[in-house]
Amino acid sequence: MSETIIVYYSLEGNIDFVAKNLAEKISSKNLVRLETVKAYPTKGLFKFLHGGKDAMKGFKPELKTEIPDLSKFENIVIGTPVWASRPSAPINTFIEKSDFSGKNVYIFASSMGGSASSTIEAISSQVEKKGGKVISSVSLVNPIKKQEEALEKVAEFAKSIK
Ligand SMILES: Cc1cc2nc3c(=O)[nH]c(=O)nc-3n(C[C@H](O)[C@H](O)[C@H](O)COP(=O)(O)O)c2cc1C
Repeated sequence: MSETIIVYYSLEGNIDFVAKNLAEKISSKNLVRLETVKAYPTKGLFKFLHGGKDAMKGFKPELKTEIPDLSKFENIVIGTPVWASRPSAPINTFIEKSDFSGKNVYIFASSMGGSASSTIEAISSQVEKKGGKVISSVSLVNPIKKQEEALEKVAEFAKSIK
């Protein structure tokens, strides 16, 4: 298997849970959780307002995490929660600052019930503009609560990673 890195953002742990499980399945130690300089709220209405507004504007928050050097990887796996039917804002920053030329890209997204297809499409189009080739994607609903269903889908997704 080629060298693979998983880069993801997770506000409340669902994508983190999936990313760690996927890393185990593909035996990759290259796992980078993006964190923002200014943390997004995790409670109440503000949770949806702040993140939702930033996602809708395509805002690129400053990251505390150093952007990983993708040059030594052939496969880049990107994970995000669905925010207002879009990618979470920190993923916009990661994509803007990265070069995907010649890379195989894989996308996983989770929501609390809504469709993740527009989120996956948005990431695909941004990555393709930067030279990446999207190979596969998977969308999950509440993966921590629905673990069995999620892990089955993740196992299938893992098989698609070259
Ligand atoms: C700012 C914000 C916006 C969200 N927008 C949506 C949405 O449009 N549709 C949906 O089904 N879930 C939405 N959710 C729920 C998350 O996508 C879902 O809970 C996801 O699994 C969370 O992943 P995480 O625990 O890794 O942060 C939103 C959550 C937040 C915080």
